[in-house]
Amino acid sequence: MYSTTRAMLTRCVVHARRGVSAYGRFGRRRDGSKPLQQHANKSAVGGGTARTRTLSHAHAPKNTADVSSGVFLGSGALNAGARVEVNAQTLVLGIETSCDDTAAAVVRGDGVVLGEAIASQAAIHGPWGGVVPNLARAAHEEAIDAVVAAALAEAGTTAEALSAVAVTCGPGLSMCLRVGVRKAQKMSAQYSLPIVPVHHVEAHALVARLCAGTEAVTFPFLALLVSGGHNMLITARGVGDYTILGSTLDDALGEAYDKTARLLGLPVGGGGGPALEKLALEGDPTKYKFPVPLRQRKNCDFSYAGLKTAARMAIDADIGGGDGDDVEWDGVDKRQTRADIAASFQAKAVKHLEERLKRAIVWAREDTPDLSCIVVAGGVAANATVRSTLVKIAEDANLPLVFPPPKWCTDNGVMVAWSGCERLALGLAESAVDADLERKHETMDPRDIHCNLLPRWPIGEKDGRATRDNIKSAKTARIADPLRGADGDRDISSSSVRAAGIE
Ligand code: KG4
Ligand code: ZN
Repeated sequence: MYSTTRAMLTRCVVHARRGVSAYGRFGRRRDGSKPLQQHANKSAVGGGTARTRTLSHAHAPKNTADVSSGVFLGSGALNAGARVEVNAQTLVLGIETSCDDTAAAVVRGDGVVLGEAIASQAAIHGPWGGVVPNLARAAHEEAIDAVVAAALAEAGTTAEALSAVAVTCGPGLSMCLRVGVRKAQKMSAQYSLPIVPVHHVEAHALVARLCAGTEAVTFPFLALLVSGGHNMLITARGVGDYTILGSTLDDALGEAYDKTARLLGLPVGGGGGPALEKLALEGDPTKYKFPVPLRQRKNCDFSYAGLKTAARMAIDADIGGGDGDDVEWDGVDKRQTRADIAASFQAKAVKHLEERLKRAIVWAREDTPDLSCIVVAGGVAANATVRSTLVKIAEDANLPLVFPPPKWCTDNGVMVAWSGCERLALGLAESAVDADLERKHETMDPRDIHCNLLPRWPIGEKDGRATRDNIKSAKTARIADPLRGADGDRDISSSSVRAAGIE
């Protein structure tokens, strides 16, 4: 067991290094400029900053901010409500370790991505059919220094030149979150950097403002967040100001994709969604009459457990496996049946998304008629059927639809760094970790270190029309106070939140 784990970890790190430097896709300049060699200073400087984004509307469909080609439609100006000037002189490092990707990025305050790196743990968790927390933590620990160094190197900068370090504090696996937070704390102490605690789901939503521009994705907007761990519809009124219109009663859609993919004998390393989506292309989506979930409940909640069970029963009946064991597949046997099940599962899964999104548009408009757009984010937003279906709904509602490009739909460091910029502008940062305290931490039992981890952290309050008793582990798990923005009475576990002091 030990040697297997070691071998897996080694593979993971090799993958990270290869991804970071040889592929050259990380850290590319959004604006084609040369990397900054020297960052002027840590104080934000007002006015007169060069606009380096490429502004182009030329090829964008009229009502859709298609940023999948990396075309920028707007600027990253963070002027609205800003308390701290965050601009092209501001450099924020973002660190993400909430689940099974170790990711980091350096983003400039005007929304230019300078460098990013990611170490995927797909090869580690694939054989286990899901994320194994202990292995994930070990892999994060192995990769974190190299990933942060690679992001800085791609950005052509150094830790000394940073303005702040942003890190995902929750929600997520606590032992994984801790790795990123410890790295951020160490860097904060060593380089006197303010720390910006970041909410993972908020980061998925806010990255749309970086991609499409802050004047295209203005508050309020409606966001559909669909990932492996989260499935929710929210009204976003401002940074840290969200109302949950609906969330899942059981599985998230990504989780249902992963479990069904495994039952179909597909590779699930890095998530089964892409493999199931690919197989579904060969199938007939009408072949299996699976139910569309929750039709009787006229709200915006989701449920995917029943659909997953229906797919499992079809697999048991028509492919085999009978006692619920995962099915071994040589890639040929009953391929058409598997493809039909995959396509039928996907059709109903996406139909459920479609129905809930339509209702959420109506609900959101009752409170906030001035919605600027719909943002769809999280890993499942990379799915082509999801994309094409939701485009039609947005068109019918006469709302622009914004999808981050697929690589920023799944977990990444850019979304964390950008959330860091947004929160920094509102003064929602903690001051640098005291170097003496950090030295003591080095010799203390890691469990005694206050890490500000919030593994269960709601993004906001539930809307009055939503189901209230549906958080599956609410009874057993400690749930943190909801996220708050600059005008909330508390934020980030209530204490020590103050302006970053870099005005
Ligand atoms: O946002 P993400 O990277 O991590 C979480 O925060 O959960 O999302 C990962 C999830 C996985 O369940 C994966 O199977 C799913 O997103 N996913 C997809 C696709 N790409 C990723 N699901 C369906 N189709 C895809 N193309
Ligand atoms: Zn995520």
